[in-house]
Amino acid sequence: MKAAVLDSVGSPLVVRDVDIAEPIGREVLLEVKASGLCHSDLHMMNNPKGFPLAAVLGHEASGVVTAVGPDVTQFAVGDHVVGCLVSHCGRCERCMSGRPYQCRNAAETARAPEQGARLSVEGAPVIQFWSLGAFAEQMLVHENNIVKVDPSIPFEKAALLGCGVVTGAGAVINTAQTQPGDTVAVIGCGGVGLSAVQGAALAGARRVIAIDLVPAKLELAKRFGATDTVNPADGDVIEQVKALTGGRGVDKSFEVIGLSQTAAQAIRMLDTGGSAYLIGLHKPGALLEIDVMSDLLVPQRSVQGVYMGSSNFKQDIPMFADYYLQGRLNLDDLISQTISIEQINEGYEELKAGGVARSVVVF
Ligand SMILES: NC(=O)c1ccc[n+]([C@@H]2O[C@H](COP(=O)([O-])OP(=O)(O)OC[C@H]3O[C@@H](n4cnc5c(N)ncnc54)[C@H](O)[C@@H]3O)[C@@H](O)[C@H]2O)c1
Ligand SMILES: [Zn+2]
Ligand SMILES: [Zn+2]
Repeated sequence: MKAAVLDSVGSPLVVRDVDIAEPIGREVLLEVKASGLCHSDLHMMNNPKGFPLAAVLGHEASGVVTAVGPDVTQFAVGDHVVGCLVSHCGRCERCMSGRPYQCRNAAETARAPEQGARLSVEGAPVIQFWSLGAFAEQMLVHENNIVKVDPSIPFEKAALLGCGVVTGAGAVINTAQTQPGDTVAVIGCGGVGLSAVQGAALAGARRVIAIDLVPAKLELAKRFGATDTVNPADGDVIEQVKALTGGRGVDKSFEVIGLSQTAAQAIRMLDTGGSAYLIGLHKPGALLEIDVMSDLLVPQRSVQGVYMGSSNFKQDIPMFADYYLQGRLNLDDLISQTISIEQINEGYEELKAGGVARSVVVF
């Protein structure tokens, strides 16, 4: 099959032929239909600390089941599915209490070395990034990494549910338990941040403040339910947020970029008792400079790191698909463009420049 492969740190992806194994055990083989370009892949391309290369990246995909392993119980050929990188065993106490994103045995869904690699080039194993490897014509995954969706949802829309939507909207709804009446700020309005904006609107937040350096992103945020927008180019971000909230600051803030400076802003723009949620991936070793007394203790604020929107994705992805089909979740405006796999490096250049919400590779 054709796949976009990362051979070395910082180099462009190379589209080449990759061999994919047959499904064994609880594995499912998919024909990939659409695959979104999330910033986390770009992060890993430039800071691939902790995973060996070569690798097939991509982790936001939809497709159709083409074959199932002998022990698969949840899927059949022809099912429309969405992938999610939250590998989980399904039987530990974390999984059993609805927290697969904190599973104790996530590694057991991978193949054992003696079972051979799922992906290879000329016999040499190729890493399947975050258990998916979605920049490819096919994916071979554990059945715990996919979920069935209504076949009437178009593939390129469904793909976005797998990371951007569960992460952004999930952080607001699941992690932060946002309620009607809350005031919310979202710093960074890419595919994930716009989904956080939309999650806040769905949860009934009273005020949804979108913050981004790119004016077009702020205009877009209004289509996802932002009630106010702030551009850091117009002056101090914290002062602007306070001015919009009667001098108080917000109840909940979400950092969706991955910079120490904006993470500190997320904390400092909070009202008394507020909480900041850090979603953006930071460079390895990045530190957060905050004043413990005046930024945290006296104003009684809290800070939490968020992984994949604290999503129980087997439940949440079909739920968001329903919202889309009912016209209550906007996925159409999240897609800035569809591209071919050959255009993937250009797609990432455009993401870096801040001009697109999501580009989606269609096969
Ligand atoms: N924690 C998780 O589980 C998880 C999951 C998915 C993605 N992520 C991370 O979330 C982040 C966002 O992903 P994305 O795909 O939406 O990225 P993106 O590149 O599409 O969006 C980032 C946005 O931030 C804006 N921005 C950049 N610098 C800014 C600044 N100083 N002030 C205000 N706005 C600024 C950009 O204009 C852009 O709109 C990335 O770091 C990604 O790796 C984390
Ligand atoms: Zn992602
Ligand atoms: Zn588990």
